[in-house]
Amino acid sequence: MFVPVSRPIIDESDAQAVFNAVKRGDVSGLGGLELNEFEGKFAKFCGASFGVATTSCYTALHLAMATLGIGKGDEVLVSTYTNISTALPVLYLGAKPVFIDIEKDTFNINPKLIEGKINSKTKAIVVVHIYGHSVDMDPILKIAKKHKLLVIEDVAEALGGEYKGKLLGSLGDAGCFSFLANKFITTGEGGMVVFKDSTLNSRARILRSLAFGKENRFMHEDFGFNYRMSNILAALGLSQLKKVNKIIGKKRSIAKFYLKSFKNIKGFQLPVEREYAKNVYWMFHIVLTGELEGKKKELMLKLKEAGVDTRDGFVPMNRQKIFIQKGLCKENDCPVANKISENSFYIPSGPDISEEELKFVAKKVKEVVSKIV
Ligand SMILES: Cc1ncc(COP(=O)(O)O)c(C=O)c1O
Repeated sequence: MFVPVSRPIIDESDAQAVFNAVKRGDVSGLGGLELNEFEGKFAKFCGASFGVATTSCYTALHLAMATLGIGKGDEVLVSTYTNISTALPVLYLGAKPVFIDIEKDTFNINPKLIEGKINSKTKAIVVVHIYGHSVDMDPILKIAKKHKLLVIEDVAEALGGEYKGKLLGSLGDAGCFSFLANKFITTGEGGMVVFKDSTLNSRARILRSLAFGKENRFMHEDFGFNYRMSNILAALGLSQLKKVNKIIGKKRSIAKFYLKSFKNIKGFQLPVEREYAKNVYWMFHIVLTGELEGKKKELMLKLKEAGVDTRDGFVPMNRQKIFIQKGLCKENDCPVANKISENSFYIPSGPDISEEELKFVAKKVKEVVSKIV
């Protein structure tokens, strides 16, 4: 048996939904039955008012930042422990990303480190709800209000997650989501930015679609993008959305099973669920501590040989050579993230994992660990 880190749930109803859209010829990204419905229903599911579907979370983040007016000369505070897609749009808009270290147990941006990095150029804070656990939003929203900063949420890994009973993506000025194959729901590739504000929604719609002119379509009103999601993918997204609660429930039960299975392994730091959060446990992420510290490569290799797929934790943004060479950061800027990164990986947690596979993974993990220590 070999258990991959993630397999999406795609069934007959998804295939039928795509088929129906294609058969009707409703394939464009300029509008479509399913596209409109998907945007509306997805935004509602996230506690927001408007959804603008895009081609990925990366493009959702780029579009959100452009819509909010981030540009040349601005500084944007970004959690260092994330996918590079959170940071790149800041640079492409001519602004400077400033990387902030994380909390040891949630791996989320540490709110205590934010104010020290604010200056007259600071325009926004980009928070990332990593691995399904909410960022501690109250202190961040308070700082943002005090210094008049925008807040953008990267919710790629936390669809349906909550902070003090509020849905993630609805707390900041914009919330950005991913529909990559390993996310909660998938369109293969795809994303969405959600807003509460109707002016931002209108502006994002213009920018998403090349800012076509109102009177003469080809006299463009602004510097836009082509980040439109096709109606074919929206049909898949809409069909997937019907399963979202089931998928979130499954993720939580996978985590419950692993937490119980590994509670006696001394060198494992396991995922937490702080009192303010509903963790949706995107992937079950383990940090090696004590006697297991420094043994990540060996463990991951042995697990692979035993039939269990794993993935490394992120390499923090402050350790990315391309950013260091640009003079944006130094390798040792974020010591907490660096240590987590060196010692962390995640194990199979996809929504389609069977009970037999889960038991197999837990057994193999315990066996491999017992042979290493
Ligand atoms: C936290 C985070 N942000 C952004 C992204 C980018 O998502 P996408 O691949 O849809 O652009 C990912 C993707 O894996 C992610 O995990």
